[in-house]
Amino acid sequence: MSHNRAIPQHVAIIMDGNGRWAKQRNKERYEGHIAGVESVRAAVRAAARNGVKWLTLYAFSTENWGRPTAEVEAIMELFCRTVMGEAEDLARQGVRVKIMGERTRFSATVLDMIEHIERSTAEGDRLTLVLAFNYSARREMVLAARSLAERVSKGEISADDIDEELFAKGLMSSGMPDPDFVIRTSGECRLSNFLLWQSSYAELYFPEVLWPDFGEEAFDKAMAEYARRERRYGLVTEDC
Ligand code: FPP
Repeated sequence: MSHNRAIPQHVAIIMDGNGRWAKQRNKERYEGHIAGVESVRAAVRAAARNGVKWLTLYAFSTENWGRPTAEVEAIMELFCRTVMGEAEDLARQGVRVKIMGERTRFSATVLDMIEHIERSTAEGDRLTLVLAFNYSARREMVLAARSLAERVSKGEISADDIDEELFAKGLMSSGMPDPDFVIRTSGECRLSNFLLWQSSYAELYFPEVLWPDFGEEAFDKAMAEYARRERRYGLVTEDC
């Protein structure tokens, strides 16, 4: 493979710490999310500059619907505003945007925005930006299992045909490479239902910095950290 192994092909980020960033400044939580959008822009620029081909950002988990209505609405509005404002610039940068998650519970406006951003950036070939929005790893695995069970019951496939490759094809990430590097900001060391199947062999990194403070420099530091990691995939290396 021609890909430089010191550069992750796919970086996935759990953007955590917006609320704490706002609290530290006596601001409302949604102001932390607004500040977080600037870090989204920085991550996209830095990923493209570093030669990363896939960047997945956990923007809204299925569990996040349980937050206060005002905060959920603020995130939805921010999503729509950002998508409207950035679509042209992203297309110009060669960034293709994909939304990964269940397309349920969204308002018609949010669904329109999803359609708009995916359509207007479809030609981008420098970087694919995947926004996990209403995403849950366990849920996607349940849906994949259900669809395979239906195909078995219809006689389209036999239970023995189900292997890792076929299962992965039923996930929302079908067609994407697995993440090489998973970053969670704010010092929390959890995956919180994010890409559980796909992250089996990913390197994990938990910088202390809160998401709104994770700028291009912090992204570059993360890339340097990745380059130092030695990936073995359950094997042994020559010098062992
Ligand atoms: C986690 O911080 C952050 C979120 C749940 C929302 C992230 C959303 C954005 C950055 C904006 C979405 C828009 C686009 C365009 C992707 P937290 O609120 O859990 O922080 P805390 O743990 O400090 O409370």
